[in-house]
Amino acid sequence: TRIFLDGADPQETRTVMAALGFLDGQTTNPSLLAKNPEAQAHKVDGNKFSSTAIYDFYKALCQELSAMLPNGSISIEVYADATTTVDNMLRQARSFDTWIPNAHIKLPTTTAGLEAAAVLTGEGRRVNMTLVFSQSQAAAVYAATKGAGRGDVFLSPFIGRLDDRGENGMDLIKDILALYAPGDGHVEVLTASVRSMEHFLCALAQGSDIITAPATVLLAWAAAGKPVPAADYAYAPVGLAPIPAEALPLTKPWQDYAIGHPLTESGLAKFAADWNSLIDMGS
Ligand code: E4P
Repeated sequence: TRIFLDGADPQETRTVMAALGFLDGQTTNPSLLAKNPEAQAHKVDGNKFSSTAIYDFYKALCQELSAMLPNGSISIEVYADATTTVDNMLRQARSFDTWIPNAHIKLPTTTAGLEAAAVLTGEGRRVNMTLVFSQSQAAAVYAATKGAGRGDVFLSPFIGRLDDRGENGMDLIKDILALYAPGDGHVEVLTASVRSMEHFLCALAQGSDIITAPATVLLAWAAAGKPVPAADYAYAPVGLAPIPAEALPLTKPWQDYAIGHPLTESGLAKFAADWNSLIDMGS
């Protein structure tokens, strides 16, 4: 299992690397970008970024992270709302790919995002499909990116946000790993929206290919001596309803799987709002 930091503050990256003694990559998103200490100053009217300057800021940040983690992967997320076209996502993705040599382009797991992923992986680019909340979305990602090399496609199921609405998000990780087990291994499962040490240890025990976690969780894990629990690690969240496993074939065309999910929609809207909070909309 590779360990990534979920964040957008290079200082935090330095602290986590020093505490862990390693770091395999970093994931960013628009909400994390909006929390970056330097970005905070741009939330104020009169000091907001223009719609192009925000990309310059994001680019400098990703270049700093990439220089710290030259052998790792840095996930850079496209700006998208419900109306963003495939062409727009492709333009952003191709531009991000010129920023650093080790980018995974984060795309939403929506119809437009999947269409963009199919084109981008066909061009040999790397993607990280985000806002995943169901096995059928995971099957659609597998099908849309078939033919991509191992390591070129990450799938980010969001654990904490399922827990937030009373469902046991860790079930989804278990079920997606089982769904992918008979496959060709071209999609790697990147457990995301990790909120606690329990989540982190359970994802490790289940053998998630990658886990991205906030600095607080990684620092707590380092302080505990980096324990790696056995596969039968007891994880018993109280009050979370189990998510039933779906029996899905991996062989259908991606358009034939159920793609929509309410949390994908609300997650997309929140990312767009956080990005827009930094921008002078008149620019
Ligand atoms: C990372 O790739 C995800 O965008 C992130 O883990 C989401 O976490 P949250 O649900 O805590 O915002």
